[in-house]
Amino acid sequence: MQKVKIGIIGLGRLGMVHANHLVNLISDADVRAVCALDDDQLAYAKKNFGVSTYKNYKEMIDVEDIDAVVIVSPTGFHPEMTEYALNANKHVFCEKPLGLNMDEVDTMVRQIKMHPKKIFQLGFMRRFDSSYKHAKKIIDDGKIGKIIYIRAYGIDPISGMESFKKFATDNDSGGIFVDMCIHDIDLIRWYTHDDPVQVWALGNDIAAPELKNIGEYETGVAMLKFKSGMIATLLGGRHAAHGNQVEMEIMGSNGWIRIAQEPNKDFLTLFTNEGVVKPSMQSFSERFSEAFIDELRDFVNNVKTGKNSDISVDDGVKALKIAKACKESADQGTLVDIKLS
Ligand SMILES: NC(=O)c1ccc[n+]([C@@H]2O[C@H](COP(=O)([O-])OP(=O)(O)OC[C@H]3O[C@@H](n4cnc5c(N)ncnc54)[C@H](O)[C@@H]3O)[C@@H](O)[C@H]2O)c1
Repeated sequence: MQKVKIGIIGLGRLGMVHANHLVNLISDADVRAVCALDDDQLAYAKKNFGVSTYKNYKEMIDVEDIDAVVIVSPTGFHPEMTEYALNANKHVFCEKPLGLNMDEVDTMVRQIKMHPKKIFQLGFMRRFDSSYKHAKKIIDDGKIGKIIYIRAYGIDPISGMESFKKFATDNDSGGIFVDMCIHDIDLIRWYTHDDPVQVWALGNDIAAPELKNIGEYETGVAMLKFKSGMIATLLGGRHAAHGNQVEMEIMGSNGWIRIAQEPNKDFLTLFTNEGVVKPSMQSFSERFSEAFIDELRDFVNNVKTGKNSDISVDDGVKALKIAKACKESADQGTLVDIKLS
């Protein structure tokens, strides 16, 4: 196979980022077509990427000569789009989470397993970030000993609140734990090879009371107990005044790791009459630009070589079940037992 011929579904906040990377930075990718519902997004893609455009994803998959489909549509569509693409003999890259409805996700997983020769890769891109990869190596080398506790924060900037409200009003996001904390849930499972057995979670809308009307917590906090006895706390939010705050602390019996305590935009410090300021990153696409490129480069390479993704579909299922248990605990105000099998 020379280049991997690709069709993209979804050109929104993240889809346009992926499309730009695939067209301009990943030399083994050949984007032939895109699909979205928005006329302006399609016109932009036609003009700037020179691709065919569709509003119906089935038509794109049926008509276009493509090897793979990159799915960046709202989460509720992931199962049906994945199944349609696999049944049309296409490889699939699908954004996280796998889906929202567990029955639909179960059917999706069955279909993925019925197509073992087709690559299915899930967008847990933080595994491709250099700092998180470095932490993985330190942990695997035993340098911090046994993991006792992990604390993870994922807080979007307040500047993104309006676009989030539109996203969550037009679609079901799944809520703060499923939409956001799922990244940290995956990382914690990846680092520890352990699964949680119980969760106690809480949520509030103090920073954005209007989110209550669309069934969203602005801030969600979950405390999880793992099989080994390890403890983790997750915090997801959408209210950081200064920028995009994504940080993790891993405490081991012999040492600690901290990743990104401050979301510095670069190495610059600004000294003015207002004080000493380190400008911060403002978006997830800025913070994880390298990881977003590398995960798609990995997918394209996996399609070319036939190598399965290191992120298994079972990783996606377990992370989703854990995130849903966090939501259940916060919604019901109870301790929830987590059943993963
Ligand atoms: N990995 C990450 O860090 C990360 C970050 C943001 C979003 N995401 C995920 O990416 C997905 C998309 O999120 P977003 O913020 O880009 O959404 P968005 O609402 O900004 O964009 C959605 C896109 O999908 C298109 N679309 C909607 N319904 C469609 C349909 N039936 N057929 C074809 N196209 C359709 C829309 O026209 C739009 O182009 C979600 O699953 C989200 O969880 C992941």
